[in-house]
Amino acid sequence: MARSSRGMYCWAISTLLCLLILSLVSPSAAVKHHDFKRCDQSGFCKRNRALADSMIQAGSPDTSPYNLDAPSIKFKNGVLEASIIKSIPNTVPVRLPLTVTFLDRGNVRVTVDEEKRQKGDIELRHDSPVRKERYNEAGAWALTGAGLQSQKSAVLARASKGVSEVSWGPDGRFKAVIRHAPFGVEFYTGEEKQVAFNGRGFLNVEHWRPKIDRPAVDENSTEQQTVEPVEDESTWWEETFGGNTDSKPKGPESVALDITFPGYGHVYGLAEHAGPLSLKQTRGGEGNYDQPYRMYNSDIFEYELDSPMTLYGSIPFLQAHKKDSTVGVFWLNAAETWVDITKARRDTNPLTLGLSGGVVDTQTHWMSESGLLDIFVMLGPTPQHLAKSYGELTGYTQLPATFAMAYHQCRWNYVSDEDVKDVDRKFDKYNIPYDVIWLDIEYTDDKQYFTWDALNFPDPISMEKQLDESERKLVVIIDPHIKNKGGYSVGEELKSKGLAVKNKENNIFEGWCWPGSSNWIDAFNPAARTWWKSLFSFDKFKGTMQNVWLWNDMNEPSVFNGPEITMPRDNIHHGNWEHRDLHNINGMTFHNATYHALLERKKGDVRRPFVLTRSFYAGSQRSAAMWTGDNQANWEHLAASIPMILNQGVSGFPFAGADVGGFFGNPSKDLQTRWYQAGAFYPFFRGHAHIDTRRREPYMLGEPYTGIMTQALRLRYALLPAWYTAFHESSTEGYPIVRSQYYVHPKDEKGYEIDDQFYLGSTGLLVKPVTKEGADSVDIYLSDEENYFDYFDYTVYKGGLKTQRIAAPLEKLPILMQGGHIIPRKDRPRKSSGLMKWDPYTLVVVLSKTGEAKGTIYVDDGETFGYQQGAYVHRALTFADNRLTSSNLGTKGSKTASYLKTIQEVTVEKIIVVNAPDAWATQSEVLVTDGQSQGAKAELTYHAAVGGKAAWATVRRPDVQIGADWSVAFGDTLRDKTDL
Ligand code: GLC
Repeated sequence: MARSSRGMYCWAISTLLCLLILSLVSPSAAVKHHDFKRCDQSGFCKRNRALADSMIQAGSPDTSPYNLDAPSIKFKNGVLEASIIKSIPNTVPVRLPLTVTFLDRGNVRVTVDEEKRQKGDIELRHDSPVRKERYNEAGAWALTGAGLQSQKSAVLARASKGVSEVSWGPDGRFKAVIRHAPFGVEFYTGEEKQVAFNGRGFLNVEHWRPKIDRPAVDENSTEQQTVEPVEDESTWWEETFGGNTDSKPKGPESVALDITFPGYGHVYGLAEHAGPLSLKQTRGGEGNYDQPYRMYNSDIFEYELDSPMTLYGSIPFLQAHKKDSTVGVFWLNAAETWVDITKARRDTNPLTLGLSGGVVDTQTHWMSESGLLDIFVMLGPTPQHLAKSYGELTGYTQLPATFAMAYHQCRWNYVSDEDVKDVDRKFDKYNIPYDVIWLDIEYTDDKQYFTWDALNFPDPISMEKQLDESERKLVVIIDPHIKNKGGYSVGEELKSKGLAVKNKENNIFEGWCWPGSSNWIDAFNPAARTWWKSLFSFDKFKGTMQNVWLWNDMNEPSVFNGPEITMPRDNIHHGNWEHRDLHNINGMTFHNATYHALLERKKGDVRRPFVLTRSFYAGSQRSAAMWTGDNQANWEHLAASIPMILNQGVSGFPFAGADVGGFFGNPSKDLQTRWYQAGAFYPFFRGHAHIDTRRREPYMLGEPYTGIMTQALRLRYALLPAWYTAFHESSTEGYPIVRSQYYVHPKDEKGYEIDDQFYLGSTGLLVKPVTKEGADSVDIYLSDEENYFDYFDYTVYKGGLKTQRIAAPLEKLPILMQGGHIIPRKDRPRKSSGLMKWDPYTLVVVLSKTGEAKGTIYVDDGETFGYQQGAYVHRALTFADNRLTSSNLGTKGSKTASYLKTIQEVTVEKIIVVNAPDAWATQSEVLVTDGQSQGAKAELTYHAAVGGKAAWATVRRPDVQIGADWSVAFGDTLRDKTDL
């Protein structure tokens, strides 16, 4: 949401009301803390923290009332089923069905339900029509169905003394030790404990109970009160916040558990938060937060940095990392969730009386408002294993169309179709590449989506055609709130077809958003999704053609007059589920619906859809890109964008960016320029600005700024082949697109907290954006023993646990190339990525200390799904023994041959070898061998090393095909100059 946008929205409602609303909105750029709950204002968070405190005080989990009913244990085909019994005074024991599924790849899934609710054996209050079960459909949205098969060979060894033990995983290397009383599980690799459940006794499943009206406590009475000291019931039956009362028809139903990672000093993940990559402690103390990390998708106006406050999206996936191991936990729950993190030093050798330093355990405490306890544990042992496992479960990131990885130009708003055409022409006039221009909410007729403002956009098709001439695209915004106005056909259909979210009385829910009074599509409803598809067909959404794609915003959902700027928790969705149960998935169902609608706009013409979403959940990576919402035009927000984007990669949703330039406010020219340099290395690269800001298209700034930003944009375009290859790797392996230090160098403890520099895919390109005002150098940390080379002038920087200072005047973005890599590029400047499609390649070969290098390149048509039938090129590029070779990594499909034909003219026009051996100084040719010729000659030019810069050589026009086998033989002696 945005400040003056609230002002604009006022046009639609009465002036008096407006004045009231605006008076509530202070002009200062600070989050409104009072709009959002702290843990102590959230009933279940407060209750669970109190339980944790009492357990900590007790000093052991022994009083935890949850015991495994041993006789109930059944074990078959890698699945253990049993009942946990919760026993508390004066209550019939509560049965909690437990399922533990031992999965291939060394993962395990632990699910705990509640028998009474499962059987519908409860009473709802207020005659509510909602479902009685705990929400059990999060998996249906988040999981792909892959990776769920149990490992049939898992073995249950019934050990004595109240413990059951199961071994599974490759070679039976993993072990789960299930303690019966109190219930708890410890997961081991070999004999090393990796993860422990309920080791601290915080397990809590708030069972169903009828409401008992207790006599009010007379505070003035001196007589002994007979009311039993019970739990804090004050928020069990209803809860009021910010003037809204939640009716809670199912009573208290939270689930919570402590999960400890012994010996793991760092945890990452839990997107989306604006804070450091290595997550902080949350129970107070110097430098720590005093609030748990919160996940409750929200439209947080002017969000603050270095904070555990919730943001727009949630991915409840956490990785714990130490020198030789990475393990993970995926908490599959879509309700509001809080996670406390604490770290405890443990003395591993009592004889040293604490002097040994010991090890750090990270203790986490997860609390969700409702739903199942449904947890995946992944035993790694590397960050790559986790990425692969998590991706297998929730889906790998989509492989987007090439234009989606190029530059996007947005602002709120380009005011007319003429304005768009003018901006388009200006980019060309200034020779600045861009691929996509965006329209924010003002393009519509009165915020009625699927319509155009006829006055300002009389001819959208001619605008789209002009863009198409340069293979450019248009993205338009469509939000999930649908204007509630007579005569608006989309709004009327939504209501008459019964496809909108309902309120607690089971009537259509009405609230406020950009259009004023609105209703919300319930994308959980299959009929709503089918209807949504119909709206995007070209004959229905008039004024759009094939080069128009979509932006879904406000899908947390943002409801301006709702509790915490979102929907009431007791709203009702398809299937009679309460909103509270599925809140965090809501945004994903909407952007998914849009993705599928775009797939079917026109039969037989399937292009990879592009959808940008603000709200997301685990699984969103399959169909959308995300951005970090409404940031601010200041240096702190520029710096904060980097850990946020790196964390998206850790969290399996790497197609991420931040508003370049900053959304609120006007960036200084220096800040904007630095932001373009950083943005050129965001996976999603879009300039965007609030409606109140000054125009800031890169050509507006004047020299030297325009020129410097153009260079950053050109760099992005030149490296598109490397980006495409990194996206491909992410779409098949789950790896982040931009990778943090711990991810690339997992054994180097010095890198675990570094989150301001990163690598692009597997290219060895190491980037450290300048994020400080006035800085003219950066310090970059080089973990490994390799040499690194300045991207632009090949200055050599020695690695090996060293920090190196790199000059970074405004015109320079610090980028180094790690020795040992081959980087594909396209060096011919063009207007858009579409126009580069048939351009030849440049390969940059950066030789390691031992004179070797490796890389891969992935190429396809960049727009269709033909790659799924083999219409692609995937090659290994290897430099060894003085020879550069290209060999096939792909597998043949029905479309391979025809695709290879289409790109047979696409060649390598240049090879640059950095750190070239000095033996090449006397050579002037290389020998090229491919399908056509054996030993054709190509020209080699050698440049000797000077003044700290590496020697380099270029091969001009080897003219080998990018899609074929070939080799290029260089001189026959190879020595490493940089080591001399
Ligand atoms: C929200 C979005 C922002 C957009 C605005 C108007 O604030 O986060 O990007 O410009 O709405 O649609």
